[in-house]
Order: sequence, then C-alpha cells, then structure tokens
Amino acid sequence: MSDPSIPVVCLNDVSSHDEAARMRASTALREAFGTYGLVYVTGHKVSRDALRPFYDAFRSFVAKPVEQKTACRRASDWYQRGWTPANTETAVAAGGQPDFKECYFASPSPRDASYAAQYPELYPENVWPEPPVPGFKEEYLQLGTSLHEAGLTLLIAAARALDLPEDTFTRRIAGGAHVTRVLDYLPLDASQVGSGILWGEEHTDFNLLTLLPGGQFYSPEGEPSARPDDQSGLYLRTRATPEFPQGRRVRGAVPEGCLVAQVGQQLEILTGGRFLATPHEVTAPGVPGWSRLSSAHFVHMAPNEVLFPLEPFRDPDAVAAYAPPVLAGTYAIKTLVDIGLAPRAALDKLGYRHYDRLDAMKSAER
Ligand SMILES: [Fe+2]
Repeated sequence: MSDPSIPVVCLNDVSSHDEAARMRASTALREAFGTYGLVYVTGHKVSRDALRPFYDAFRSFVAKPVEQKTACRRASDWYQRGWTPANTETAVAAGGQPDFKECYFASPSPRDASYAAQYPELYPENVWPEPPVPGFKEEYLQLGTSLHEAGLTLLIAAARALDLPEDTFTRRIAGGAHVTRVLDYLPLDASQVGSGILWGEEHTDFNLLTLLPGGQFYSPEGEPSARPDDQSGLYLRTRATPEFPQGRRVRGAVPEGCLVAQVGQQLEILTGGRFLATPHEVTAPGVPGWSRLSSAHFVHMAPNEVLFPLEPFRDPDAVAAYAPPVLAGTYAIKTLVDIGLAPRAALDKLGYRHYDRLDAMKSAER
C-alpha cells in the first residue's frame, strides 16, 4: 500500500522567522519521524534536472571495463570511498543475502584531519575514475553538498520537534564521516526474475539521518523510464502497533519534487526510540532487463560523540534498549563488520591490542 499520510516538511518553514511556520514544520516532523521514520521534504536545492546527468555519468562509469572500476575499489578502506562491486554488502536485519547492486561512495564534506588519524578507514580521501568520467565528480559533490544542507536544516527542525535546544543534533555532527552514495541496481535476467533476488534487503540505516533525492528506472534499452511494474521500488515498514504487530509495509510514494529523509539508528538511539529507524527494502522488478539508479547522503554523528539516549529520554526502557553507551565511531566500525564491508579483524581495534608486547619482553629475558 502507499500511504498518503506521510507528512511533508518544507525547509523554508524551518528557516522562517514566522513562529507559525516553524511550528508547522516541527509538528509535521514529529509525526513523520515518530510514526513512519521518514518524511517528504520540499523547499530544498536539489534539482531533478541535475540528477539525470549525474545518473547518466554513473551509468557510463558502471559500463567501463572492470579493470578501470577495480582501480577505484578500496577494500582496505572498507569500501567507504570509490567503487563497491555487486554482491559485496549484506544487510544485517534480515537474511544476510548480498544485494544485487554496484555502488560508489564519495564525501562532499571537508576531511577532518584529526578524526582521519583516529579512524582512517572512515575518512579516506575521495577517489575518482581515471580517465575522468565527464561531469561525474562535479555533479556528485554538488548533489552531496545540497543534500547535506537539507539534512542540517531538518536536524534543527528535529530538535525543535522534541523540545530540545535547536543545535542538539547539528553540534553532534560537526566533522562526522558524512558520505554520499550512488547505486546502480542491476538488471535481472529472465531466470533470475522471481527467484528472490533483492536489490536492497530490508534494513535500517546506521547513521543519523539519510537524505534520498529520488531514483530513476532505466528500460532494457537504457532509456530513463517510469517504473516497469507495481512490485519494484522502495518499501518501508511502519512502527509496530497492537493492531499491526509486524508494522505495515508501505510503498515510498514520494510526491513530485520531494526528497525523502529517513531516521537512522543513531537518531533512534539519541531519542530513546521517539524517532524510529525505519526498516526499508528495495525490491527488484518482476520483469527482466530493467535497472535503477538511486543515491543517498548519509549524515553521521562525529565519531567521538556518545551514542546513548539523551537525558530527557533516558527512562528505564530506553536505557535497557540502548545500553551500553558507545562512541559513534566504534559503532560504525562494528556495523561495517556486520554488513560485510570491514574485516572481522577490525573489531580488534576496539580493545587493548598490545598484549604481544609482554610476550616480546618475556622472550627477551631468555
Ligand atoms: Fe538504506
């Protein structure tokens, strides 16, 4: 089902000096993030016309010889920059099946040298294709920057919606490992259609807030097209209620011209569950040969911020649900291991790792 009751927030209302407009935005956001875990956003600076050339540029990268794409592959940086091949990442929440997609990561934000020294794999330098794909880098950084600006404004509205100081969330993201991703969901062949292959398995995002500017389907002939059938696209699962203990499965029917903003796990934790990280999935079409491009910008908390319910939400249930407190950066490392992008050995960094020094000293005694 599609749900027309998911609220729309206008960023101009958030920035307005008119108290009624601000109130309108806060009320809509409280309902949207509290009930659905996402909101539709107008008043942003992301133009649909700019998305098309960006997606076309990424499609020409995906069509490059695999050697050129592999040159942009950064497994040692846990795929946090450059090209991620198909069947690399898995979702945690469901069955753990690898997703049927290729993607690319780059950050539009200035790189914080201090955090980069502490968390090198979360803050690699951007990597770009060689030879350059015309327009790709420029369109990419522009899109990421515009989505990030929208995210900052929404985080102010989110704080107001919960009667918190309005910089509650924005001051926690300064220097965060924000990253923009573009994805190419791969076409299925006739034998794969209906076989259970998912473009994106049901999951929740592990960051603070995700901004989605909208996807684009491509026909088997490579033409930008409307979606080929009713089953393909973005679906989300609403909060469990006594009436719907499994939540309700709702199609993301985004109003024309709107972005989508989704609550991530970090925002759920800080708010003690007042705002909900929404499970979502991307289903593949029931017809062969169709692909879909989409992109997302992930706003992260700064890595040394503590992830634990904020004081006003720290009731016994929230403490039980979200304890122990952890740093956002160590939370990211754990999650990247869970989804198959970082090696398990990365977890060794989360405790003391110089026990071998004692062994070396003892052996020197002999
Ligand atoms: Fe997601």
